[in-house]
Amino acid sequence: MKLQNKTFIVTGATSGMGKAIALTFAREGANLVLSGRNEEAGKGLTDRLGNNAYFLPGDVSNPDYNQALVDLALEKFGQLDGLSTNAGMLGLGSITELPLEKWSQTLEVNLSSVFYLLKAALPDLQKSPQAVVVINSSIAAFKTFPNHPAYCASKAGLVALAKQAAVDYGPTVRINCICPGPVDTPFIHASAAAFPDPAKAVENAGKNTLIQRLGEPEDIAKLAFFLASDDASWITGAAYTIDGGIMAQG
Ligand SMILES: NC(=O)c1ccc[n+]([C@@H]2O[C@H](COP(=O)([O-])OP(=O)(O)OC[C@H]3O[C@@H](n4cnc5c(N)ncnc54)[C@H](O)[C@@H]3O)[C@@H](O)[C@H]2O)c1
Repeated sequence: MKLQNKTFIVTGATSGMGKAIALTFAREGANLVLSGRNEEAGKGLTDRLGNNAYFLPGDVSNPDYNQALVDLALEKFGQLDGLSTNAGMLGLGSITELPLEKWSQTLEVNLSSVFYLLKAALPDLQKSPQAVVVINSSIAAFKTFPNHPAYCASKAGLVALAKQAAVDYGPTVRINCICPGPVDTPFIHASAAAFPDPAKAVENAGKNTLIQRLGEPEDIAKLAFFLASDDASWITGAAYTIDGGIMAQG
């Protein structure tokens, strides 16, 4: 129970990696404020987790919603010790195809949302003895994919934002990124739509890793949990790839 008596906000909590992270943090004793858009899935999670978890539906690109997540954590648990940000969208289309609105929306949902949540949360995180932020970026921060300009730019922005925030808010708040490779969630199937044969693209994404399989959401949750725990007390301003070895292949 390494997260006992700690309160975390988890975004993107109703599916995929965010859900696996929420369940892992809850198993380790954390109090949770869960963010997502699917109210039924959110209710299912809070029913499962009991009094230690609350769900607030909303759009992470709205600064007021991020403030409301922080307010809920303080109202229900009286403190805030960490953030795990996972909400994300693809915004597919090459630069010449991508409407300006889609570019802006992708940057808002993937990058600005984390700035908004940090802005709302940092005053209270600084009051926690061991505050921690784990931001879900992507190997797309370092490696390009066809038709993903907004996605790649936003995910690279998250790595820069995490490092910069770690500088301003250390030693009180540790801030790190996780950068997953292909993980078996609804997201990767949507991402594969950018390729001529989407089913083959998903299959190849797994085969092309050194471990020869897609990641599971729980693989990512284990890294997020380690970084959130005091076992990682000397780790800040870092970006960890967790990708079955894709980046090792150049
Ligand atoms: N699956 C992959 O292969 C992969 C690889 C690298 C990084 N990622 C990143 O991991 C994160 C989690 O994705 P996942 O793979 O678990 O997929 P997912 O589709 O299960 O999760 C994404 C979540 O973000 C939420 N979301 C999207 N826009 C939102 C908005 N405006 N407001 C609130 N919530 C919003 C969705 O509702 C969903 O719950 C994303 O940031 C994604 O970019 C995914």
